[in-house]
Amino acid sequence: MPAGLEDVIAGQSGICYIDGGKGLLSYRGYDIHELAPNSTFEETAHLLWFGALPNKAQLADTTSKLSASRGIPDDVVAIMRHFPKTAQPMEALRTAVSALSMYDPEAEDQSREANVRKAIRLTAQTATLVAAIARMRDGNDPVPPRSDLGHAANFFYMLTGEAPNETVERALDIALILHADHELNASTFAARVTAATLSDMYSAVTSAVGALKGPLHGGANANVMKMLLMIDDESKVDDVVRRMLADKKKIPGFGHRVYNTEDPRATHLRRMSREAGERVGNPKWYRMSAHIEKIINTEKNLNANVDFYSASTYYVIGMPIDLFTPFFAVSRMAGWTAHLLEQYADNRLIRPRADYIGPEPTLKWVPVDARI
Ligand SMILES: CC(C)(COP(=O)(O)OP(=O)(O)OC[C@H]1O[C@@H](n2cnc3c(N)ncnc32)[C@H](O)[C@@H]1OP(=O)(O)O)[C@@H](O)C(=O)NCCC(=O)NCCS
Repeated sequence: MPAGLEDVIAGQSGICYIDGGKGLLSYRGYDIHELAPNSTFEETAHLLWFGALPNKAQLADTTSKLSASRGIPDDVVAIMRHFPKTAQPMEALRTAVSALSMYDPEAEDQSREANVRKAIRLTAQTATLVAAIARMRDGNDPVPPRSDLGHAANFFYMLTGEAPNETVERALDIALILHADHELNASTFAARVTAATLSDMYSAVTSAVGALKGPLHGGANANVMKMLLMIDDESKVDDVVRRMLADKKKIPGFGHRVYNTEDPRATHLRRMSREAGERVGNPKWYRMSAHIEKIINTEKNLNANVDFYSASTYYVIGMPIDLFTPFFAVSRMAGWTAHLLEQYADNRLIRPRADYIGPEPTLKWVPVDARI
């Protein structure tokens, strides 16, 4: 039994294909290198949910449904106001996503039509939840969504109260496309396991948010930025990183269970990090990242993953570090819900076996007083 189910095929899916040796990632047959420069998050979400790129009318329909679904119930906002100011945004998101189900009359409707509506609602509302969590944590009121803005631009608007310029909007949109799905990663698998009990979509995506939070998964992007800030000085990169390696510390943003070559998402994010840094006149974080990458490539033969260059990209755009992982969730909600639609369409309980390594089942019960 491979530890961590490495390379185990745990189900069939027609959504996302990865060839880890070739560094290939595709959504529904479209290479990520086709989608990243040309698509939008709305179009990519449609592709993931419905299996084909939308025509003009279909895209307009999905886009307007997404933008019409951005509001969150006042009661959920009221619940969120009670969260402690010290709550991590991923903790808050986990609870808020879960709370949404109690205000959705369709929560328990398992028909495909209702589940598609919930996929759209959950994707739209996750952006609103994350922005509201950030605003309220800082003592501000949530900014209501604007229906004339796309998903990426509206997220930035709800976060800051101002629409982003075109460059920031496009950078966020590309990041959303790149993070939207990734086959049977830990959070998607968690979502599918929950759904396979025929539990509802909200329960499934709550499981997924919990899994994404971990530093071996989505939590790595925030840790990359913490490491960059800890090093701070370009001249210290060599010393600090080599010391971390000597201490057998894992360098956040490197390594991948499936890719043993360049993560194709990192190719785009590396360029985005460089361009964003140059544009705001702060190329330091990109330069430090590139230096770290060189060391890890040479010393460990490991490649940067999706989280490495997304950190410096988001940071120079002005996104707070503890929103990096929630922003990953804003995007991945499209992928999670696409996988849930696929799971419900052809469901069987996911219930594997364990390779038992405990004592022989021959022990006799002893009264508590007689135990040593
Ligand atoms: C992604 C990750 C969890 C994959 O884990 P995995 O497939 O179980 O691989 P392992 O943790 O067993 O690593 C295999 C070897 O590479 C080393 N390695 C893997 N990632 C490393 C990293 N980021 N820094 C330093 N060494 C690393 C391990 O120490 C191990 O070396 P060893 O065989 O000498 O002990 C792992 O690479 C990691 O923890 N990366 C950092 C966190 C991260 O960026 N996560 C986001 C993933 S998209």
